[in-house]
Amino acid sequence: MIITEQINVAIKSQSKKVEWIDIGVEGLLDFIPGLPKGDAILVRGEPGTGKTILCLQFLHKGAENGEKCIYITTEETPETLMRTGTELWIDFPDLVQKKQVVIVDLSIAATYDSEFSVISKEEAVDIFMKGLAAQPEATRIVVDSLSSLERRLADPADFREVFMRLLLEVKKRKATTIFSAEGIPVNPDITEYLVDHLIYLDYHKHDVIWTRVFILRKSRSVPLKPQILKLNIEKEGLSVEEIPISLKPVWFASKL
Ligand SMILES: Nc1ncnc2c1ncn2[C@@H]1O[C@H](COP(=O)(O)OP(=O)(O)O)[C@@H](O)[C@H]1O
Ligand SMILES: [Mg+2]
Repeated sequence: MIITEQINVAIKSQSKKVEWIDIGVEGLLDFIPGLPKGDAILVRGEPGTGKTILCLQFLHKGAENGEKCIYITTEETPETLMRTGTELWIDFPDLVQKKQVVIVDLSIAATYDSEFSVISKEEAVDIFMKGLAAQPEATRIVVDSLSSLERRLADPADFREVFMRLLLEVKKRKATTIFSAEGIPVNPDITEYLVDHLIYLDYHKHDVIWTRVFILRKSRSVPLKPQILKLNIEKEGLSVEEIPISLKPVWFASKL
């Protein structure tokens, strides 16, 4: 068999084995079969683009189906996450109470060795591991956000090591994981190269109308071309749909 045929056979047999999961964004399964279970996803976007809601929705979807979930928050306090979650889904407090969703606090409000809320790389990994131990069978994990974690580190140069430790740990556990990070960088960094899927959330002003968009920028093993979808934030969370042609999204070209 020539090598290209061998690769095709390998891809086909592999794709039959892929267990696709729904990350919870309403309408996304109209465009892709889902994302492979156990993969690492990075969600990037400016403030207010919907990263935290996407993270909450991903866990809510899993918890609804009986999965165990962990939300590691480095930015918002557990109180504001509870408030948003409860605002969006009436059963959210119940899922937290039943410990199907465990919130691990690494925010500024948490208790640290340093009274200035700055942590060493050891402390960051240690809190992370303790959080995972609170939910050892977690199949869905969120780290929101990597950017806040980086800022919280006493030495930001340690971020690369911390990120790689976290990624290795969640991969070992075969948990599907969403990491969030701020902004859409001109030059991709280590986080973007190491994850399996990259989602950009963005918005653009068109005359007087603001349009939110969802871009699946990179997706290992997922049969799709990069595409831009219209993103809506509604009372039950995020939903996507085909972008109306009238919006002429020429400005997106630079981001694909
Ligand atoms: N309950 C809600 N219903 C509808 N829209 C909401 C609700 N809560 C927040 N939003 C909107 O969603 C936006 C995105 O919020 P968030 O996910 O926290 O953004 P990010 O984490 O990217 O900074 C908010 O700026 C707000 O406009
Ligand atoms: Mg956020």
